[in-house]
Amino acid sequence: MSQYTQELQATAKAMMADNKGVLAMDESNGTCNKRFQQRGIPTTEEKRRAYRELLVTIPNLNEYVSGAILYDETIRQSTKDGVPFPKLMQSNGMIPGIKVDAGAKELAGHPNEKVTEGLDGLRDRIAEYYKMGARFAKWRAVITIGDGIPSRACIESNAHALARYAALCQEGGLVPIVEPEVLIDGNHTIERCYEVTEQTLIAVFDQLHLQNVALDQMILKPSMVVSGKDCPQQASVEEVADATIKCLLDCVPASVPGIAFLSGGQSMERSSAHLNAMNAKYKQLPWRVTFSYARAIQQPALDNWKGEDANVEKSQKLSLHRAKCNSAASMGQYSEEMEKQPAMV
Ligand code: G3H
Repeated sequence: MSQYTQELQATAKAMMADNKGVLAMDESNGTCNKRFQQRGIPTTEEKRRAYRELLVTIPNLNEYVSGAILYDETIRQSTKDGVPFPKLMQSNGMIPGIKVDAGAKELAGHPNEKVTEGLDGLRDRIAEYYKMGARFAKWRAVITIGDGIPSRACIESNAHALARYAALCQEGGLVPIVEPEVLIDGNHTIERCYEVTEQTLIAVFDQLHLQNVALDQMILKPSMVVSGKDCPQQASVEEVADATIKCLLDCVPASVPGIAFLSGGQSMERSSAHLNAMNAKYKQLPWRVTFSYARAIQQPALDNWKGEDANVEKSQKLSLHRAKCNSAASMGQYSEEMEKQPAMV
């Protein structure tokens, strides 16, 4: 038991509260700038700050979202009135989280595969983030499906790093979100995605055990088991829900408090429909099954904002509506009807 055991258990429980998910808004400056450029928004620190202010100040967001994952630049920023984002979130009933990995880099000796870096100095960064108000963290590993890949080296290296990260987080009082993302890119079938997701999750939990990570004090953030984006045979919503739940039941111990999916490039509606199908059909799962989406919540706000103050209010309503749809999906109560009554904008 670490000095933080009870706090970590309470944080994980609060993150997975009934009907809530987690907002991912932790894009690195590179990714954020890329998305700004695609929409003609200037790629300045001030525009990134203004955009993140738009997100954290969405009125009533805390009804659907328990917390949000920030990026290093963002956790140090404030609203235009000078309130630090983590403080604002706390007073609005949302838990601040922080992405602590340093990104996925080429895995030496393994063309087209990546390993996530960022363990050096992590203990000190965690201590700093905890002081700034963060209570959970995120580390994303990326597994690519292709000809002859993923290799065992890629899966094991990423699983090892995820487990070392998770142990450091728990030592420092942050609930680790463990995110092994099997990419949707490629023409692979859903069966191949299942196989790779299963191998990955088995390796990740093996390493989590090895590094003495307390499974009741972490959250798993996996990708869903889906057909590759370019696969001619696209699995139905029900097939995705069945395959994903079977894979998770086979691999994820019951002591893990929650599973919060990434959206991973699925459309916004599909991200909601898949999550909903899992929760509507499977009522007796050992863990809560919810969302930790970035694109599937943020996209309409980003499309509408265009970097203009005048567009903030409508953008906030659009993203609030996505959060509401995903919240409903996390309880199996989402329907296509909800898409027809968006946002009252
Ligand atoms: O690391 C990825 C994000 O946390 C989730 O992003 O929902 O856009 O895939 P996404």
